[in-house]
Amino acid sequence: MSKTIKLNIEGKDELELPVLEGTLGNDVVDIRTFTKGSGMFTFDPGFVSTASCESKITFIDGEKGQLYYRGYPIEQLAENSDYLEVCYLLIYGELPTKEEKAKFEKTVSRHTMVHEQLTWFFRGFRRDAHPMAMMVGVVGALAAFYQDSLDISNPEHRKVAIYRLISKIPTIAAMCYRYSNGLPFNFPRNDLSYTANFMHMMFATPCEDYEPNPVLVKALDRIFILHADHEQNASTSTVRLAGSSGANPFACIAAGIASLWGPAHGGANEAVLKMLAEIGDVSNVASFMEGVKERKYRLMGFGHRVYRNMDPRASIMRETCYEVLKELGLEDDPRFKLAMELEKIALNDPYFVERKLYPNVDFYSGIVLSALDIPVSMFTVIFALARTVGWISHWHEMISDPNQKIGRPRQLYTGPTRRDFVDVNKR
Ligand code: CMC
Repeated sequence: MSKTIKLNIEGKDELELPVLEGTLGNDVVDIRTFTKGSGMFTFDPGFVSTASCESKITFIDGEKGQLYYRGYPIEQLAENSDYLEVCYLLIYGELPTKEEKAKFEKTVSRHTMVHEQLTWFFRGFRRDAHPMAMMVGVVGALAAFYQDSLDISNPEHRKVAIYRLISKIPTIAAMCYRYSNGLPFNFPRNDLSYTANFMHMMFATPCEDYEPNPVLVKALDRIFILHADHEQNASTSTVRLAGSSGANPFACIAAGIASLWGPAHGGANEAVLKMLAEIGDVSNVASFMEGVKERKYRLMGFGHRVYRNMDPRASIMRETCYEVLKELGLEDDPRFKLAMELEKIALNDPYFVERKLYPNVDFYSGIVLSALDIPVSMFTVIFALARTVGWISHWHEMISDPNQKIGRPRQLYTGPTRRDFVDVNKR
């Protein structure tokens, strides 16, 4: 028999609400008839207890520290797969066959170039603009360049828009970096893997050959895999909300990028590196930690809304972090030693232990990206690049759902009650 819950409204009327069961994770109370039956709204700022949609893409159990993409544990994907294969999995729901994988890789690599006019669009920005400011603008502008893939009711348009976004995002991300450093843009190289091509577009110069280091390519590919999706976080929910009105996919992804920019979300790995620079030296760690405990500021790269145990992505990234530092001979670099000291102290300090605050993926990904010579201002851009597939998979899932409705939350109004207008001379 299907489960229900009964609500007693002011001791009189009883309202019976169905309980829906997922394949994994918490059941949810279906409150769609609640307002009609009670005359009230529910109140849940920050969506702490609210499932905003049904989804088949990603599952997280924060208590157990589990993260699955389409049912596959993140550890297995990080170990055995590559980013483009994970993209296919997120979009289509299944791992590709050998032939499907080869076809997908070919199609993505054939869409890596951007419209030439887009390069002129960049020149309108100041050279010192934050790369995220450029990214949000340029991705939003894609709708002006690719007008033949904007009809969201047409499955072919949706498919082409998805390919275009996944293929062009690395090109645009690298262009943001090159422009802010006064460097010429590099054309993509379709003979390289997705991630090696990104490194080529970032770091190659016209003056000499550039061969991406395979250890570093693998590390960056892992960062991409680990950041590819994370169910209904702030930016994904933003993409869904923007898309629920029928907005085109390029505009929706630009909305996701805007949401990701905040320091409590995608800006965290940038904030980690800024924090390390502020602390400066291992000798300052103890006094810095006192400030954290006095709640003057937070220890960036620690804590997570969902994970109340070690973030599984953080464990993988920690391993990758050591591999990269070893490959580059940076084990004794003072900044990395400082990060490791912070990690050690926080993992043993009762303030963090009692609150179940563990290092999150951004603590380590910030260190890895910095070791790869990627400037701090580019960190959130890299996150946005990797998360684009998650955003677009959720957007696609939502648009394909026949029960999809425009997102329209309610509110608890606490402003002034009705009052009459007073002429400006009488106020
Ligand atoms: N440093 C110090 N104290 C913290 C921290 C931190 N990083 N995070 C949480 N706390 C404390 C907080 O003060 C509170 O203490 P008390 O119970 O005494 O009031 C307790 O831990 C619970 O915190 P909360 O703010 O209720 O937790 P939340 O779920 O609302 O916040 C968070 C989650 C990620 C915003 C927060 O942990 C934070 O600000 N972390 C630093 C920023 C960061 O690293 N963000 C990246 C998140 S992972 C990337 C992603 O998925 O987007």
